[in-house]
Amino acid sequence: MRFDDISIESTRITFWGPRTALEVRSPLPGVLRLRHVPSLGHSALGPRELAPKQSWAVVEQGQRPLSLRREMDGQVAVVATEELSLEVGLAQGNWLLRDASGRELARCEGFSGEAMPDYPVTRFRSRISLHAPPDEAWLGFGEKVGALDKRGMHFVFWNTDVVPHHPDTDPLYQSIPFSLGLRDGVAWGFFLDESWRLEADVAAEDPTAVRWESTGPELDAYLFAGPLPADVVRRYTALTGRQPLPPLWSLGAQQSRWGYENANEIRSVIQGYRAHKLPLDCVYLDIDYMEGYKVWTWDRARYPDPAGLAKEAAAQGVRLVTIIDPGVKAEPGYRVYDEALAGDHLVRNDRGSVLVGEVWPKPAVFPDFTREAARAWWGGLHKGFVEAGIAGFWNDMNEPACFRLVNGDETFSIISAAARDKGKVEGPTLPHDARHGDKRHLEVHNVYAIGMAQAAYEGLRKLAPERRPFLLTRAGSAGIQRYTAVWTGDNSSYWSHMELSIAMLLGLGLSGVSFTGSDVAGFMGNTTGEMLVRWQQLGTFYPLLRNHSAKGTRFQEPWRFGEPYLSIAREWLERRYQLLPTLYSLMHESSQEGLPALRPLVMYAPGDTEALRMDDAFLFGRDLLVAPVVRQGRTRRHMYLPEGRWLPFSNLGLSGEPLEGRQHVLAEAPLGTVPMWLRAGGALALTEPAQHTTTANWAHLTWHIHAAEHVEARLYEDEGDGYGASRLTRLAGGWKGDRFVLERSTEGTLPLARETETLCVYALTPPREVHGAREHRFVDGLLLLEVEAGWSRVEVRL
Ligand code: GLC
Repeated sequence: MRFDDISIESTRITFWGPRTALEVRSPLPGVLRLRHVPSLGHSALGPRELAPKQSWAVVEQGQRPLSLRREMDGQVAVVATEELSLEVGLAQGNWLLRDASGRELARCEGFSGEAMPDYPVTRFRSRISLHAPPDEAWLGFGEKVGALDKRGMHFVFWNTDVVPHHPDTDPLYQSIPFSLGLRDGVAWGFFLDESWRLEADVAAEDPTAVRWESTGPELDAYLFAGPLPADVVRRYTALTGRQPLPPLWSLGAQQSRWGYENANEIRSVIQGYRAHKLPLDCVYLDIDYMEGYKVWTWDRARYPDPAGLAKEAAAQGVRLVTIIDPGVKAEPGYRVYDEALAGDHLVRNDRGSVLVGEVWPKPAVFPDFTREAARAWWGGLHKGFVEAGIAGFWNDMNEPACFRLVNGDETFSIISAAARDKGKVEGPTLPHDARHGDKRHLEVHNVYAIGMAQAAYEGLRKLAPERRPFLLTRAGSAGIQRYTAVWTGDNSSYWSHMELSIAMLLGLGLSGVSFTGSDVAGFMGNTTGEMLVRWQQLGTFYPLLRNHSAKGTRFQEPWRFGEPYLSIAREWLERRYQLLPTLYSLMHESSQEGLPALRPLVMYAPGDTEALRMDDAFLFGRDLLVAPVVRQGRTRRHMYLPEGRWLPFSNLGLSGEPLEGRQHVLAEAPLGTVPMWLRAGGALALTEPAQHTTTANWAHLTWHIHAAEHVEARLYEDEGDGYGASRLTRLAGGWKGDRFVLERSTEGTLPLARETETLCVYALTPPREVHGAREHRFVDGLLLLEVEAGWSRVEVRL
């Protein structure tokens, strides 16, 4: 591999080899795009001209200036921006990335590729190899199993419906080829913008290399500068889009089960919650509400009056969400099928006729969400459901799952030799040669779900423009956060799955997906009272808190297990509602900056390898360190506290003296307790528990503040849905000699909905004087201040 020609434009520099090319651009500050084309024939428009390439992930494609200079006797060409420089070796076709201070961030040892012409789908093997120094950690990779640091693992990126999955199953439902490298406390990012089937070997085969391989003709890579992990995540989400602020109700408690039989059972679930004084905001209707699994229909025997049911639920403060699967039953006379055929919205087989398979509906056909017309049609199908008062939509089986193929009177198991001969397949999905317009399934399989999510999101924005869409998806790809929340699919009621969910959600969060959760208490298998309680505690911090279980398993609503489990589950549901001001503000921060609500410890301790290994604990936002118990029978919990000072704050209350960080501790964690710590300088906004959400303009608000040199906090408030007025409150201050000062500032026009606020300031000695508060009290290291809601400054003299 070598380059012997360079074309230079102000925003694009292209290196040309005999049959290869490397195009460099900078779409955003601190971001380089490197299109590696190892075999030009398939990507060229003409001599010295690459064909434009469609992206499903990227939404910001700026054109920032680049400069070029030669070094080393002309052997190295350096492409530079303000933040990054790329040294391209002309004789070897390799590159090296440095930050503005000259530090080496990444090195590509080369890229190569070949085409494997085949009928009907030409596959490629396009490869790139990145140097992986032994002390570098590799995080991210979207929804993957394993520890937080994925070094030593091998991944396939091919959205797959796996039931059941295990702690080592790969691939799962989502494909997000993004990684965050971390060495000596400095982070950088790598994103491969390819919808084709990919593999990544994360220093498993060769401990010094991370190798990516695509079945597509090129490797369209983005490199991100840090230096902090949060900087990389901000840049990655600036490129691929950020999760919009969800409606408040979708952050409340959600109950679901595959197996609620009919409207009466839904009523009795809601009643059960209310009778047991358990908070609840939403109930899901799984596939049995449909008539014969026909999407966009109701089984009128089970659900005679969906709109009436939605109204009744709403009167109890509960929203309904229906499952929507993409497979459309092939049945002439069924409106959705007839429209799909008439509008030419369906995926076709290799011979050009509509592809027929089987999922829950048998036989079934598949909308082609890669095409705009099909998306617009599908988006419009939400209308009847929106009118009936359905508040959100749960997109499932959207890898897409397909159990069997149908050819005339014959059906083939998707994994049988016969089906394989029909066009290669992998997993229970469509064959590689299925046609999506002029593309083949092998190329667009991984973006099927993002197309469906886009269709739903845009449809809902049109149908109910005054409300924020709530969507939940199983499958997805890079950028999925722009449209929908993600849950991690069919887990089981295993302790190992509870623990695994932490690293999975942290990995998703680093990969841009903030609104996530795992099925609380496990989908498959039978849970126990103890597991339910422990999972409820962990789920209190999942941005998406949904209890969901499969047909045939033990019912797992909180009251099914008796005491003490019911009471403890209730306490944790109430804590979830107390935490909503903080969670809502974190989700707002995600929408603005892309940072996830759940953050690994290493996010703020990037050079600390002990923190890196703590992937059974996490930070909720920046300030609250949470160490849930994820093992049966345990009543103590080991934890590593990263740098800083930490106030023991188990169960959201003062539970000990502040501790210095960089130490391992053992915390008491009996069944009702989750050890937590509040960072010095951090603050947590809590409200009163409620049976369901109403507004995010909180009527009650208590700040819990761990006094330190610098204190900083933010709170976002609005009506909880829609696009109306808002208020962003910032607290700033800290120690000034022997005075502790806090100032409050706000932006936005939302009027206050409370008269007073409470400030709980920890780690102070008894004050001599307090200014700016209506009342104050000092008890056991805690200063309680009652302030006017519109306060601007409090000062405490010690
Ligand atoms: C899939 C989903 C699961 C759902 C079931 C029936 O397995 O992952 O959540 O309950 O299908 O619709």
